Amino acid sequence: MQSITLTRFLIEQQREANALPSELRLLIETVARACKTISYSVAKGALGEVLGSLGSENVQGEVQKKLDVIANELLLDANEWGGHLAAMASEEMETIHRIPNRYPKGEYLLLFDPIDGSSNIDVDLSVGTIFSVLKAPEECSGREVTEQDFLQSGRNQVAAGYAIYGPQTLLVLTIGTGVYEFTLDREIGSWRMTDGPMQMPQGTCEFAINMARRKQWSTGVARYIDERIEGAEGPCGKDYNMRWTASMVADVHRILKRGGIFMYPADARHPDKARLRLMYEANPMSFLIEQAGGAATNGFGPIMDVQPNGLHQRVGVVLGDRAEVEIVTEYGRETA
Ligand code: F6P
Ligand code: MN
Repeated sequence: MQSITLTRFLIEQQREANALPSELRLLIETVARACKTISYSVAKGALGEVLGSLGSENVQGEVQKKLDVIANELLLDANEWGGHLAAMASEEMETIHRIPNRYPKGEYLLLFDPIDGSSNIDVDLSVGTIFSVLKAPEECSGREVTEQDFLQSGRNQVAAGYAIYGPQTLLVLTIGTGVYEFTLDREIGSWRMTDGPMQMPQGTCEFAINMARRKQWSTGVARYIDERIEGAEGPCGKDYNMRWTASMVADVHRILKRGGIFMYPADARHPDKARLRLMYEANPMSFLIEQAGGAATNGFGPIMDVQPNGLHQRVGVVLGDRAEVEIVTEYGRETA
């Protein structure tokens, strides 16, 4: 298949669409290079002694897998000295990582979930890396970047994407000019465009939710799912299918390619409790989904309009098919 490389795509975006400053282009190339290295570690599996847990917990109180830590280090090391960043934040680190004084600094902030879906690593199912890029606020030039500087709404993202380590290794990216997919050609080591600009199919009948969490659902979410399970005999008048990978990257990728809706609602009994992180998961995925013609809400309003109050804040997530997201969100508003 003849297709352009990621590098060429980014240079063209810089020249033609004038949408991409060269610092951001180089930053995306660095993230892509780190994802390539992570993909080699993931693929080595037991042979590379990268499987299993470390016995430690991350800031979220979750058991850290060896690959969570390896991928976090790879992303930090790759991006530290490039000169494009002011600081980084990761799901695996308690606070932000400032660029050390021995390296040049830039104006961007990089946030990442190094290995998303890490419960899948040891059983050889797809995992991924999610990233989001913000600009450091202007007023922080000349002083140290703080955690507060990261607390910008998703609308401020200048780039977002994910790598998925599955049967193929893919990089799916937006810089606000559509969504593009690149496949890693392992023989020559480069990313080649295989889809884009991507528009997610609308009107397909597939939902993704962890059904075992039903007791945590609001009445609106329960109503939405019950109506779909009733299928052709119920108010929807058509049958639905269900898929749940337990790896957000894999579920969102399927939705981008095949349509449908993904939901991880907040716990209705404890509204401040949710599973997914706003800054590392919900915002970047919402940017991609909106750019591909879909919608993303926290169950009440657009995710990217949420003003963050903490680096590790969690939110309810409903994303994918525009009409389906609207129905769940409407049911949520009615019963709020
Ligand atoms: O990062 C959190 C995550 O692993 C997501 O990738 C995934 O969608 C979700 O958790 C799976 O949660 P559960 O284990 O409750 O199905
Ligand atoms: Mn994750």
